[in-house]
Amino acid sequence: MWSCERVVGSALDVEEVLGLYRASTLAERRPVDDVERFTRMLAGANLVVTARTGEGRLIGIARSVTDGAYATYLSDLAVDAAYQSKGVGRELIRVTGEAAPQATIILLAAPAAVDYYPRVGFTAHHSAWTLDGPEE
Ligand SMILES: CC(C)(COP(=O)(O)OP(=O)(O)OC[C@H]1O[C@@H](n2cnc3c(N)ncnc32)[C@H](O)[C@@H]1OP(=O)(O)O)[C@@H](O)C(=O)NCCC(=O)NCCS
Repeated sequence: MWSCERVVGSALDVEEVLGLYRASTLAERRPVDDVERFTRMLAGANLVVTARTGEGRLIGIARSVTDGAYATYLSDLAVDAAYQSKGVGRELIRVTGEAAPQATIILLAAPAAVDYYPRVGFTAHHSAWTLDGPEE
């Protein structure tokens, strides 16, 4: 069995989380080789939910930034490939939403997950825009 809970991002073991990103394939599109930056990504996210097995193995994460009232940006949703399609992602999103129940969850889907989000209740928004940081 597995369960999800809200945690403090800075308290997570960075190497353990990197292992999960690799096991989920999300590592292909995140700066996992820059451990200092990845550590700041974990510490700076103020709404982090993890999924663990009963034995404590990390199998999923939802890493978000929220104002707690209006908007929650869900930056990373990742589930270990061995545990995908068992409801872990859906539960990570549910617990994330409960943490800021008045906030809208906003995200940019990875190409492999474009068909996933409508299945779990999301609506496509055709006027989303992004602007890279000056050093990106
Ligand atoms: C996308 C991801 C987070 C989904 O998590 P998950 O735990 O596998 O998904 P769930 O079990 O909550 O799936 C809910 C439903 O969506 C389906 N589903 C799962 N992944 C899907 C995908 N990539 N595309 C379409 N449907 C998908 C499931 O089969 C399930 O269907 P059901 O309701 O008929 O049973 C996970 O597969 C993953 O980590 N993928 C690789 C990393 C990635 O692309 N992350 C997204 C970054 S934006």
